[in-house]
This record gives sequence, structure tokens and C-alpha cells, in this order.
Amino acid sequence: MSSYAIRLCASKVFSQNTAHFSILKTFQHGNCLPAIRTKCLQSYWTSTKQLKSQKSKLLSTVARFLQPLRHCSSSAKPTPGTLSPDIPLYAQKHVGRWLMACAGMCFGAVTLGGITRLTESGLSMVDWKLFRDMTPPWSQEQWIKEFETYKSFPEYQYIAKERDMTLNDFKFIWYTEWFHRLWGRTTGMVFLLPALFFLKKGWISKAMKPRLAVYAVLLGFQGFLGWYMVKSGLQDQPESTDVPRVSQYRLMSHLGAAFALYALFLWQGLSHLLTAVKLPQTKQISKLRMYSHAMMPLVFLVSMSGAFVAGLDAGLTYNTWPKMADKWIPDDLITMKPKWKNLFENPTTVQFIHRNFAESAVVIIAGFWWMCRKAPLPPRARLAVNCLFGMSIVQATLGISTLLMHVPVSLASTHQSGSLVLMSFAIWLAHELRRLPK
Ligand code: HEM
Repeated sequence: MSSYAIRLCASKVFSQNTAHFSILKTFQHGNCLPAIRTKCLQSYWTSTKQLKSQKSKLLSTVARFLQPLRHCSSSAKPTPGTLSPDIPLYAQKHVGRWLMACAGMCFGAVTLGGITRLTESGLSMVDWKLFRDMTPPWSQEQWIKEFETYKSFPEYQYIAKERDMTLNDFKFIWYTEWFHRLWGRTTGMVFLLPALFFLKKGWISKAMKPRLAVYAVLLGFQGFLGWYMVKSGLQDQPESTDVPRVSQYRLMSHLGAAFALYALFLWQGLSHLLTAVKLPQTKQISKLRMYSHAMMPLVFLVSMSGAFVAGLDAGLTYNTWPKMADKWIPDDLITMKPKWKNLFENPTTVQFIHRNFAESAVVIIAGFWWMCRKAPLPPRARLAVNCLFGMSIVQATLGISTLLMHVPVSLASTHQSGSLVLMSFAIWLAHELRRLPK
């Protein structure tokens, strides 16, 4: 056997990285010729070295990718400020995870609320009772009674003009609204019960206590706003020939309060879980910090302009992009008097504002991302900037698709959740670049 053949055979065997040791043993103790054995051993060590270097390359690539998240590890120290040095680290982490869970519940509530609106289920439960609402009707008679009550409200009377509604149709919209309400109550419990437990354990810092009181009030207020919004859709509007819908002002307030609550939970959750990274005190960083904080209100305001589009069903007109029916500025932009009313009550104006505002926001975010490219940002902040920029493009694409496809439930609901994801990246970024207490 030539040495080339031996090397070929050995490298084939060893490059497969299987049962290296047993093969090596066969060569060491078997009847091979010493020359073959030496060649094979040499080949083995070379391939092992190659494997090792490949392995370390792979590990360093994975480590590089995960580096921005390194500081989230459970042993890392979170930010000072609302935290106290007297509270053990593990306790602060538990509190942080709980706050993140509350943020997750708010996210779920917003998504479910969107589905409820889009499936036109929101006006199916015509009263509000804190405890009785928690259980659905348990007998056929109860269901029929509930359906009969619903029939006396404007939404059913409008629907009845168009098509028949069966008891099963009614059950579907009723259960959708019921699930949304149940989720809201569960969110309250997910907040309240651990809050009491953590307070009893002394795991809540002095600075956090008043904040928790504010969150509790906001949660209760959110429930009130939800019912206040639904009530506006249950009232008789004899002059209207359109499908009864809730007031767009109240819908915007309900969505805005949910965004605010989500933002507060997320910010505090991040403060408890992430290690603070001190940034160099340069002019460039101060400027980026200022801009990063402006991203949060920017995304919030674009989202609230979207709430007006949703509230007025303004996504069902001008289903063209980039122009609005072959015009950059549509003819019926200002038809109402006084003129300010157009901003909030004219579907054309409301859609015009939302699409132009959203597109400008994407350009602003892209500009900010461009500014950050050369800045000495820590890896986690850089990841947040990239995510914000990427998500702004995804969100705008979702918005355009929703419009072009005449607001299908799945796309519209994804577009709504996308706005919260975008908001999350804006919050995360501002949190990364915030000024730390001395
Ligand atoms: C930064 C980008 C954007 C954000 C943060 C955003 C946010 C939102 C939000 C929060 C809503 C309300 C959803 C609801 O309550 O159900 C909404 C609705 C809507 N948005 Fe956007 N949007 C963005 C971009 C766009 C763009 C570029 C378009 C189209 C040109 C668009 C079209 C719509 C439409 C048609 C609706 C109404 C959908 C419905 O009735 O459910 N959006 N948007």
C-alpha cells in the first residue's frame, strides 16, 4: 500500500469524527505494520487538531452572536436606581421576571382586544359585572336570554338588516369578548398576587412601592376605560346608517393606556434584569441618548394615529399605496367643519395622517440607525438599534399589506401586535442608553 493510499484511508476514517478512540486502539494494539500505524497516528492527530480549531471557531462565533445578551444572565447585577442594595440579587431577579410577565399579559390583552374588535365581537356582552362576567351562561335558557338581550341593542339591529345571526354565531362573538375580559382580570391577578407576596417578603424596594401603587391604579383604570369604550357602541345613534362602532376617542384612550402600562412594566422589568452598562460621557452619546428617548413617543404617537384609523374603519377606504386613489393629497381631506374635526373624525384625513406619519417615522428611525453605525455603542445597545430599524420596516410593510388587502383579521391583528413589538425595541434601546444614577 502506498503512503498516499494509507493517508487517504486514514483521513477518511478520522474525518468522520466517529469512535476515534476505539479506532486508535485497534491501530495501537492490532497487527498493523509499524509504518501504517505511524502514518495513521499522524493523520489522526492532524485531523483532531483541525477538528479542535473548527470547534473553537464555531464556539467563538456563537459567543460573538450571544455577547449582547451576556449581561442578562442570572448572575449579572441589575441596574441601581429603583433597586436596593439590601435586597438579595435573586429576589430582584424574581421581581424582574414577574414584571416581565405582567408586560407579557398586557401584550396578550392588546392582541386579544384587537382580535375582538376585528371580528366585531366587542359589543356582544352588553353589561359589565366584575365577578358574574367570569362564568359564561351555563344552560341553553341562559344563552337564549343573553341573545335576546343582545337583540335589543343597535349592533344586532344593524346586522339583522344584512343577514341572519344564529345562536351559534352569537356564542362565537360572545366567547371572544368574554375571553378578552377574562384575560384582563387574569392580568390583574398576575399583578396583584405576586405583588402582595413580594411586599410581604420585603423584596420590593422603597422606590418601587409607589410605582406599584400607580400600576395597580392604571390596571383598574384600564378595565374602566374598556367598559367606557364599549358603552359608546351600545348607545342608540338614530341619525347613523353605518355599522354601530365604539367612539374612536375612547378606543384610542383604551389602547393608549394599555401601551403606557406595557411600557412601564417592560421598563421596570428590564431595570431589574439587565446589568447596567456605563457609557462614555461624550457629546455623541448624549445626542444619541436624547434621540433614543424620542423614539418611544414617536412610536407611541404613530400607534395612536393608527388607533383612529382602526376606530373609524378608515382602513377600508383608499386601499391603494403609495398614492390615495391616484392622488398624493386626496380631494376629501378637509370636508368637515370646524376644520380640526377632520383630524380625528374624517376617515380620509385620519388615514392620510397615519400613513404619512408612519412612513416619516420609518425614515427618522432609519436616520437614527445610520447615526448609530459608527458610534461606540455597547453590543446590547447596538442590537437594540438594529432590531428597532428592522422592525420599523416590517411594521410599515404589514401596515401597507393590511391596507391593500382590505384589512383581513390576521394581517390587521399582526400589524397591531407589531406596533407593540416596535414599541418594545424603542423602550429597550432607550433603556440601554439611559443616564445611570451616580
Ligand atoms: C411605524 C409604523 C406603524 C405603526 C407603529 C402602526 C401602528 C398602528 C396601530 C397601533 C394601529 C391600530 C390597530 C388597532 O387598534 O387595531 C394601526 C392601524 C392601521 N394601520 Fe398602522 N402603523 C404603522 C404603519 C402603517 C402604514 C405604513 C400603513 C399603510 C400605509 C398602515 C396602515 C394601517 C391601517 C390600514 C390600520 C387599520 C387596521 C385596522 O382597522 O385594524 N400602518 N397601525
